[in-house]
Amino acid sequence: MCGIIGYIGKRNAFPILRNGLAKLEYRGYDSAGIAILSEELCIQKDVGKLQEIQFEEFEGPIGIAHVRWATHGRVSKENAHPHSDCHNEIVIVHNGIIENYRELKAKLMGKGHVFRSETDSEVVPHLIEEFTAEGFSFEEAVIHALRMLEGSYTILALKRGEQKIAGARKGSRSLTLGISDDGFLPASDVLAFLEWTNKVVYLKSEDVFFADAARGLRIYNLAEDRFVKRPVDRVKCSAEGVERGEFEHLMLKEISEQDETILRALQQDEEVIQGICDKMHHAIGTFFVGCGSSYHACLAGSYMFSKTAKLHVNVALASEFEHYEHFLTDKTLVFAVSQSGETADVLDAVSAAKRRGSTVVGIVNRDGSILARESDSQLFMNSGPEICVLSTKTYTSQVVLMDLLAYALAGKYEEGLKKIGGLYLDIYNLTSRSMRDYLARLARMLRDTRDIYLIGRGAQYATALEAALKIKEVSYIHAEAFAGGEIKHGTLALIEDEVPCIVFVSNGNKNKILSNAEELKSRGGYIIGVSPENEAIFDHWIKVPDAEELNPIIQIIPMQVLAYQLAVYKGLDPDKPRNLAKCVTVT
Ligand code: AGP
Repeated sequence: MCGIIGYIGKRNAFPILRNGLAKLEYRGYDSAGIAILSEELCIQKDVGKLQEIQFEEFEGPIGIAHVRWATHGRVSKENAHPHSDCHNEIVIVHNGIIENYRELKAKLMGKGHVFRSETDSEVVPHLIEEFTAEGFSFEEAVIHALRMLEGSYTILALKRGEQKIAGARKGSRSLTLGISDDGFLPASDVLAFLEWTNKVVYLKSEDVFFADAARGLRIYNLAEDRFVKRPVDRVKCSAEGVERGEFEHLMLKEISEQDETILRALQQDEEVIQGICDKMHHAIGTFFVGCGSSYHACLAGSYMFSKTAKLHVNVALASEFEHYEHFLTDKTLVFAVSQSGETADVLDAVSAAKRRGSTVVGIVNRDGSILARESDSQLFMNSGPEICVLSTKTYTSQVVLMDLLAYALAGKYEEGLKKIGGLYLDIYNLTSRSMRDYLARLARMLRDTRDIYLIGRGAQYATALEAALKIKEVSYIHAEAFAGGEIKHGTLALIEDEVPCIVFVSNGNKNKILSNAEELKSRGGYIIGVSPENEAIFDHWIKVPDAEELNPIIQIIPMQVLAYQLAVYKGLDPDKPRNLAKCVTVT
């Protein structure tokens, strides 16, 4: 996944693009580049994070820029965007995958085009160059070139001598056009330009736009083969919450916001909630699908639906959902859970559901995201922007929404609002300085460990999975989670002296999980208990309030903090872990 932004208007493009890239860097930080068009076309790019690259501030009213998360081609300066044609007259930035780039590249090379990179993206400027050489105008050449591409993409393009920006979107990639008083700002994410405007045009798939000072904005749709009109909307989310404030890292800031964000997740329209419950009561088959943390929230929710609402729901990894497509019908209800609303696997699952006539409910954080626009109804998490690659506040907000739905299904909506809202102070305490210091001491003990195992039962199994994901993705320590009853079916073979084992204990059913902890202890495991009570078997106790069926909201928080502290002690960047991206827009 990558981030792209452009600008054309009355101001100098460079600072707008440079600041916009900083807001997009959560989408990829392997390399970055900027192209500025005035009389000349000035292209700069390099590997590394944005703050490590010294760009020269060229003057000019038009420009495009890019941050890269490598998918095709190594992390290298040649593979960094922007990419240009043979003569550096045409330049593009791209997010997505061009599935047929190999055959296009072979044909273009056969015509004498010289390629400088390993990327799929580089075929685009050469295609535009080819059509321009055949006598087409820049706009016609862009349209012809785009018609050659297979896959899903967002692209911005410039040509020396053309005072305009061309851009396009196809498939599950988001490209939104900011409309400011003095110009146009196309970007992968509205966060990149919110400081300039909240007026936007949401481009549809196969829209190609041309923006210039002389003729304004024109949008052509490849599928409809005609120029089209798109409404001007206003973005609801604000740019707030994108700065670190007094926190050293965004991850810690976003963890610390959870006392507030769970309350914001509760701010739902009761009629919408009851309408969704009605759909669940009448559906023949209900699925919750998501990836990573969102999947774990679905799993946690499934236990709550069973216990509180006596309702069976299916949970599936979004990337596996196509294998369930066969028995989806127009009576099936599919909840697509995604904080970004842009995860390609989730959007593919939504497409599969729609192909079968199923109803889709999006549980999503980002208003204006593709999922928010393509689902039949939505529940917004209201978490505010989450920029750290790790999902923390959005995970607990997702679990809150699952729990609220479960209470509503059981006819206990008001009770649910009260019980969940009552966690506010507990969460505030779990993210306090004293708790962070306590967990820092544990992190110091664990920072050189090679493996950490985690177990939980029932909804706490989902907590164990989510805690393992937090630890591994930010500290690079191998962390693996199991349902408590499963460890004796093989994993015990891995337990040696002093191997840290984190055990999630709920007062309601602690005997079985404690006997699983005994099995780990008997093999030498170092038992770390996340529990309302201290237990004799614990070598280390993390005290948490007893939230009963709401434990999945509470007990993940000290794990988020522990994971953060592990990363800090290991000298790693908690906000931008290696190899990862905040939003995975490739399948
Ligand atoms: C979680 O910390 C990771 N960032 C990742 O697993 C994430 O949850 C997953 O990619 C799904 O993202 P989404 O909620 O935006 O769809």
